[in-house]
Amino acid sequence: MAKKVSYKQLGLVNTRKMFAKAVKGGYAIPAFNFNTMEQMQAIVQAAVETKSPVIMQVSKGARKYANPTILRYMAQGAVEYAKELGCKKPQIVLHLDHGDSFETCKSCIDSGFSSVMIDGSSLPFKDNIKLTKKVVAYAHKHDVTVEAELGVLAGVEDEVAAEESHYTKPEEVIEFATKTGCDSLAISIGTSHGAYKFKPEQCTRDPKTGKLVPPPLAFDVLKAVEKKLPGFPIVLHGSSSVPQEHVDTINKFGGKLPDAVGIPEEQLRKAAKSAVCKINIDSDSRLAMTAAIRKHFAENPGHFDPRQYLSPAREAMKQLYIHKIVKVLGSNNKI
Ligand code: G3H
Ligand code: 13P
Ligand code: ZN
Repeated sequence: MAKKVSYKQLGLVNTRKMFAKAVKGGYAIPAFNFNTMEQMQAIVQAAVETKSPVIMQVSKGARKYANPTILRYMAQGAVEYAKELGCKKPQIVLHLDHGDSFETCKSCIDSGFSSVMIDGSSLPFKDNIKLTKKVVAYAHKHDVTVEAELGVLAGVEDEVAAEESHYTKPEEVIEFATKTGCDSLAISIGTSHGAYKFKPEQCTRDPKTGKLVPPPLAFDVLKAVEKKLPGFPIVLHGSSSVPQEHVDTINKFGGKLPDAVGIPEEQLRKAAKSAVCKINIDSDSRLAMTAAIRKHFAENPGHFDPRQYLSPAREAMKQLYIHKIVKVLGSNNKI
């Protein structure tokens, strides 16, 4: 593990001011997951070109795949790269996504993360409070901000009937936020992780395209949470829209993603204008990358230099990030 270092020495920022500005301004900060150099480059290029603040987030799986030390130095590299691209004061957060224990959060804070999520959403309410509070105490000593989660994101395996009961309970949020001291709160209003957010039976089908049309998010729950915690930063996980052009390209060139469906961008746009100030997107970047690589291989069967197929993949992700920033989240021109 890398030696103890503060994120401030690395040129990173925490989420505090960023979120306050976003809530006031009616937009959301993009939180893009990264595992590879190409994703990181595309995120930085997109953020600099659009003058957007950005959260680069690292999951437990990413840390295992790429190595925690490498990812932390990549984030430091991201700040320097943004400066090289002409951004005088990059607003980049290095965030732990779905931290599963105090120890993981501590290790990230000690190695230069500026923000951590402690995901106690699967724990009983009281245990979630206890764990989150412990992380907040350590994090705040280092001026690191903490995202917590209340309510469980539904998976496609869940029964439709069970999904409703996974929604965040608005009557719990005041006690949770007050007792834990967390800086932002991820809530469950019907989004879920991955490229299959809804079962076909939860959707209707567009008669023209044959594509699934997902049910709306529970904006009533979001509204009720906002009412309980006015101005408090709210986070949406599982917010990929699963762009059908990428799904179609993947399927056209040998992939198999039948009925992949995400959250319509119109609903994310609406959420971004509310107290939702951080929107998590991972799957869309995976889809853009995979579509570009499949297409490249189909059209260039003789290519075997990774730079040949990773360059269009990186460009596709960059265009996706720019689209999300400018057309969905509205975080452009905020630096
Ligand atoms: O919340 C999940 C993120 O999409 C990260 O996914 O655990 O496969 O890296 P991962
Ligand atoms: P998606 O799978 O919808 O991209 O969600 C990502 C996420 O919530 C990361 O924490
Ligand atoms: Zn998530």
